[in-house]
Amino acid sequence: MCPPTHFKVTYSINPWMDPGKPVDLPLALAQWEDLRDRYRALGHTVEELQPHPELPDMVFAANGATVVDGRVLGARFAYPERTAEAAAHLEWFRARGYRDIHEPEHINEGEGDFAVTASWVLAGRGFRSSPLSHPEAQEFFGRPVIGLDLVNPRYYHLDTALCVLDDTTDSEVMYYPEAFSPGSQAVLARLFPDAIIAQEADAEAFGLNAVSDGRNVLLPQAAVGLFEPLRQRGYEPIGLDLSELLKGGGSVKCCTQELRG
Ligand code: ARG
Repeated sequence: MCPPTHFKVTYSINPWMDPGKPVDLPLALAQWEDLRDRYRALGHTVEELQPHPELPDMVFAANGATVVDGRVLGARFAYPERTAEAAAHLEWFRARGYRDIHEPEHINEGEGDFAVTASWVLAGRGFRSSPLSHPEAQEFFGRPVIGLDLVNPRYYHLDTALCVLDDTTDSEVMYYPEAFSPGSQAVLARLFPDAIIAQEADAEAFGLNAVSDGRNVLLPQAAVGLFEPLRQRGYEPIGLDLSELLKGGGSVKCCTQELRG
């Protein structure tokens, strides 16, 4: 995670960002700290990346890389405003002794567009990550990469429309169908017949931008419609308020990069 020390909305690269709308920075920091402290209270280790004054979106750490089986696929950002974030992430991994690192040829925005199940990588395309980043990820990770077409600019990253709830299986996800093309909706219905299907209000509240450890699901508290379906399937929903970060077009998942293996 990267603290929102320098978070602000001075440009707009997704429909949620309005540079005319003020951000309450102390509140953003308090909301972010609450998320970090919840992870720690649940027993998870949280590493912190040093924020950079010229990179206001760096708080959205999920976009900086994708780590699967201890292998690090670096990011390559679609917009110049975020380009320099990729190197900051790679530097962190190198300093930490990660050796299996791939600097990508094609645009991919890390876990913004890559979601990991027990044996697959689900991969979004349409707004940010290049379709060519999918075979690149498949070759590097040695896992089947399943491409999914995003069609609604409000759900510009896969992690705004789909969440893996248990990565020890290939069956537990929740998603918002309308964010995907008809063909990708059919793919999702085949792969995940038992998925939790989100309604528009919960998707709009960024309820799919959640992080699950297989039991606890941290998600925006405004996504009230997801709590009961999650409980019915044996998960423990934990609601958080990240309203200030939503002004940048991100929430729980965007702020969290998972270090797998
Ligand atoms: N302002 C950032 C952008 O548009 C938000 C990124 C949100 N991150 C995510 N994983 N969806 O790039």
